[in-house]
Amino acid sequence: MKKILILIILLLSNSGLFNVFSGNQRYPVIPKPVRLVEIDGEFVINKKTSVTIDDLSYQAVYVVNALNNAISETGGFELIKKQKTGRNCITIKKDPTIDHKEGYILTINKRGISIRYKNLHGAFNAVQTIRQLFPVVPAKGSISIPCVEIEDAPMLEYRGYMLDVARHFFPLSHLKKTIDMLAFYKINVFHIHLTDDQGWRIEIKKHPKLHEIAAWRSETQKGHRTDVPTTFDGIPHGGYYTQEELKELVSYAQERFIRVIPEIDIPGHTHAVLAAYPQYGCISDTSYTVSTKWGYHDDILCPTEETFSFLQDVFDEVMTIFPDKYIHIGGDEVQKRRWKESAFCQDMIKRLDLKDEKGLQSYFIHRIEEYLNAEGREIIGWDEILEGGLAPNATVMSWRGEKGGIEAAKSKHNVIMTPSAFMYLNFYNTPFKDKLEPLANTHVLPLEKVYNYSPFPKVLSDEEKKHIIGLQASLWTEYCKTIENAESLTYPRLCAMAEGAWTPIENKNYDDFYNRLIYNIKHLDRWGVGYSKLFLEHK
Ligand code: ACM
Repeated sequence: MKKILILIILLLSNSGLFNVFSGNQRYPVIPKPVRLVEIDGEFVINKKTSVTIDDLSYQAVYVVNALNNAISETGGFELIKKQKTGRNCITIKKDPTIDHKEGYILTINKRGISIRYKNLHGAFNAVQTIRQLFPVVPAKGSISIPCVEIEDAPMLEYRGYMLDVARHFFPLSHLKKTIDMLAFYKINVFHIHLTDDQGWRIEIKKHPKLHEIAAWRSETQKGHRTDVPTTFDGIPHGGYYTQEELKELVSYAQERFIRVIPEIDIPGHTHAVLAAYPQYGCISDTSYTVSTKWGYHDDILCPTEETFSFLQDVFDEVMTIFPDKYIHIGGDEVQKRRWKESAFCQDMIKRLDLKDEKGLQSYFIHRIEEYLNAEGREIIGWDEILEGGLAPNATVMSWRGEKGGIEAAKSKHNVIMTPSAFMYLNFYNTPFKDKLEPLANTHVLPLEKVYNYSPFPKVLSDEEKKHIIGLQASLWTEYCKTIENAESLTYPRLCAMAEGAWTPIENKNYDDFYNRLIYNIKHLDRWGVGYSKLFLEHK
């Protein structure tokens, strides 16, 4: 019955009667704006509507292009670009009274639209809100949108999505489509997990075996990681992005005010590196292969000068592609067995007066941090980088719960929260799991649980909470053989994360979000995004 009701409502909303709705149906904006005043009536954007912006920079072009692309997609026409005021204008204007660099004030009345911004990123955010007020089906020649007044700004400065392209490789077109989705939901960071045991995905010109050898595995484990016996599909898998492609991705993201943060995971999760360059492992044999199995591995990088020199070459090239101040250096699940067995590592621990292998791990991360800091960059690492002492300027990405994030915030380090139980999108959407869903990680992470997560642990003082700079949903792709698999795990849970990172906690309400979502998500149909529809039946 509920399904039929939702269907009727969705059919009506597609029928041009959209504007008879009110509240969530009339303003299905995600993330929920900080302040929204409903106003009667509509503004009709048509072929005579003009747009003006009081800025001549390239970023102003991005804002106007975003608006025009959306209008041309929905209405099949473009705005007239001319200096004009009065009726039928969209006016985009700087307003120094706005506090937040991403904030905006959007006023839509029957005469036109006004966007006010502090920085152009705010104007771009306003354009995304406007897009979400558009009808979900193309409306040839004119687009009617509801009048409203919105004052808005994000709660967190880092609102992220991580995609693991190492376990399964995705084409550049999928990365761009993902960037489009992030923009739509005002997510401003794309964290791309480029390297792991099962594949290396970035061309490094000085060390070509990384893309010639480390980017390819002979086959892939079938079923769940823990399935016994372990079986394999016999199908080679791989791929990598050229530097040109990654630069293209960065530009594409910049045009949408999204930062791209690359992750080069070291010193663990490096089996693929060792397959290409075994000399950087602790055991000098040549039997390493790009891993075909999930989970972590004993073989990791050995902290020799040759390894550091190799990594500096890698990061030199990474920095020419990715301009963001952050470089993610991984640091997770560093198995210590090889370092324990290695006479070289044991001697190094003694020579450097380190406590143990954790101390050596900390030394490793410090060395890389020092190198990147000298180049003007900062590191992010998974919370294991706390072990043995945190590198002085590091930002911690807390994934094993909130513990690491709490410890880092207490020691005045910045933190991005992505606790697995709340933010790992590789978990099933519903408890019905494999009955309804393709293979995923065995845990379950319902939409409501993502939505209700607060990134500010209660044990932190107000001062310490200021170090929680971000929230991120992370998709590991062991079980995502296809784009459809990846998208059905990502959406709509990413929408819930987007609201959790943007909207002040006191303004959040799951039922209210859900009622907006059922309208909002329809936009994704047009773009062929394979979101999970299970939330329609299992709220
Ligand atoms: C992680 O999930 N190993 C960061």
